[in-house]
Amino acid sequence: MNILIIGGGGVIGQKLGRSLAARGTLRGQQISRITLADIVNPAPIPDAGVPVDCVTCNITDPASVAACLTEETDVVFLLAAIVSAHAEEDFDAGMTINMMGTLNVFQHARQLGTKPVIVFSSSIAVYGGEVPDPITDHSFLNPQTSYGAQKAIGELLLNDLSRKGYVDGRGFRLPTISVRPGKPNRAASSFMSSILREPLNGQEAICPVDEDFPHYYLSPRKCVENLIKGAEIAAQDLGQNRCMMMPGRMWTIRQLIDAMTAVAGPAPAQLIRWEAQPEIQRIVKGWRFDLRPEKALKLGLTADDSFEDNIRYYLEDDKPAG
Ligand SMILES: NC(=O)c1ccc[n+]([C@@H]2O[C@H](COP(=O)([O-])OP(=O)(O)OC[C@H]3O[C@@H](n4cnc5c(N)ncnc54)[C@H](O)[C@@H]3O)[C@@H](O)[C@H]2O)c1
Repeated sequence: MNILIIGGGGVIGQKLGRSLAARGTLRGQQISRITLADIVNPAPIPDAGVPVDCVTCNITDPASVAACLTEETDVVFLLAAIVSAHAEEDFDAGMTINMMGTLNVFQHARQLGTKPVIVFSSSIAVYGGEVPDPITDHSFLNPQTSYGAQKAIGELLLNDLSRKGYVDGRGFRLPTISVRPGKPNRAASSFMSSILREPLNGQEAICPVDEDFPHYYLSPRKCVENLIKGAEIAAQDLGQNRCMMMPGRMWTIRQLIDAMTAVAGPAPAQLIRWEAQPEIQRIVKGWRFDLRPEKALKLGLTADDSFEDNIRYYLEDDKPAG
């Protein structure tokens, strides 16, 4: 079982690589090799029980995709993308990477003729606009950002390539991942981690929305578990629509902060400054939070039990030492 993680240098890609290496099996088979591919050379996985290669790959370049996605590849996790606010600011970059790059990977996988499993990271940003709440498995995709539109296009292609029997695709609309480790990024949702992560690290953070702002979240740990479960679902159990919500839970900003206080005491919350940012609000207020991921739940994917868990996972898995 050879696994390729494209976007393997990113937050989820690194965690997924480590988790698969520790597990040693996928889809009932021994993992013989994991390849982490990214436009920046991915960090190696220390003490991995299986061989892990780290390679550079630019998904906008078909030759670069062909160099790492080969007949030997059994399962591809396609995580490479630029995030929401970046794709909104730079329309051409979003189209080139998120749409054409995704198409390059799918096309090359098809041309191999080996029907690899493709696990595609879509986003709940595919939902929005004039669609009634709650969002169910039967709600139509109506993205209100270029990023969401690019993810929705990827989903349509993955469904069609799977229907044709060219690949065995499955796409998951990730909730906002929090608490995301590392530095703030160019996602409009970046503050949904930084208002927790920075204070937990003893630093100030800015919250650009009100405390009653609701949103839909999942921890990185659960996200990785769900991607692995998603790769393992039997093709016949997926049905005609290969893409679905990944389970998460709705919480308000106040609930996130209360969870942080319950786990880490009152000091971190005092490091949050409240400063309205209209451009961020315009994007995130178009996102949906009343989501009912019944199909994924039936297939065995799960959400976090409480946001306290998300805080604990950050402290256990990611908080820098010292
Ligand atoms: N983190 C979230 O809250 C969230 C929510 C919804 C969907 N997603 C999706 O999940 C996936 C992983 O998210 P993440 O949080 O790990 O993001 P990330 O930004 O940490 O990782 C994405 C990786 O893609 C790589 N990349 C960008 N352009 C590339 C290119 N042209 N060729 C090859 N690699 C390229 C980046 O270098 C980066 O390492 C993304 O597709 C993202 O859109 C994430």
